[in-house]
Amino acid sequence: MTSTNKKKLIAGNWKMNGSLAANAALIDGLKAGMSHPACDVALCVPSVYLAQVQQLCAGTAMHLGVQDLSTHVQGAYTGEVSAAMVKDFGVRYAIVGHSECRQYHGETDELVAKKAQAALAAGITPIVCVGETLTQREAGQTEEVVKRQLAAVIHTNGHCISEIVLAYEPVWAIGTGQTATPEQAQAVHALLRVQLRAASSQAERIQIVYGGSMNAANASALLAQTDIDGGLIGGASLKAADFLSIISAASELSV
Ligand code: PGA
Repeated sequence: MTSTNKKKLIAGNWKMNGSLAANAALIDGLKAGMSHPACDVALCVPSVYLAQVQQLCAGTAMHLGVQDLSTHVQGAYTGEVSAAMVKDFGVRYAIVGHSECRQYHGETDELVAKKAQAALAAGITPIVCVGETLTQREAGQTEEVVKRQLAAVIHTNGHCISEIVLAYEPVWAIGTGQTATPEQAQAVHALLRVQLRAASSQAERIQIVYGGSMNAANASALLAQTDIDGGLIGGASLKAADFLSIISAASELSV
């Protein structure tokens, strides 16, 4: 069974980069080079810049996203930002469970699943990240790790799982310039699709995107794979020309 054709999603993950001036220049460049992309486009920006980016992207094809969310609705959680707060700025996507958050903030699979739930409850699409480290890959544990990470999200979110975007981001490929080959990435995406099918009759329409050193040169080959429905782009999303070429590659393959 092959994945049904669907629109690709290209989401930029700015991480902790940007300034008012740099964001304005980047978005100017993106606006100048983008007309009506056939793929979905999102910018996941630091929360402090939501108001700026919302204003600059108004009326364009670029949707707004954040890089993390609180599991809590409101209250005494110093430093946290709720789903409802970012929703006020028109946020459509929230990355949850990025490997940097799992690693530096000690996020567990259960916490990530709750973050996905908090996003869904606010009408925000969570981009749920899963992926193995180099040590895990070399130990032959890739399948076990990504399935465990996804299982927690399925367990907590039940049939709402069809509303998520899933991102396969091998940790060893993030920011390293060492991209997974299209075949390596497709193999994991296919496993994840099988797991989603067992949980939801809507599994074919779930976008499973790849992240990890995707760039203008390798995007087409990755995006042409049957189960690769887009990209989560770090470094290359900070350069207008590179991000635009990834968007064009995805547009050509979108239906
Ligand atoms: P990268 O980051 O494209 O810089 O490897 C991807 C990500 O961490 O989402």
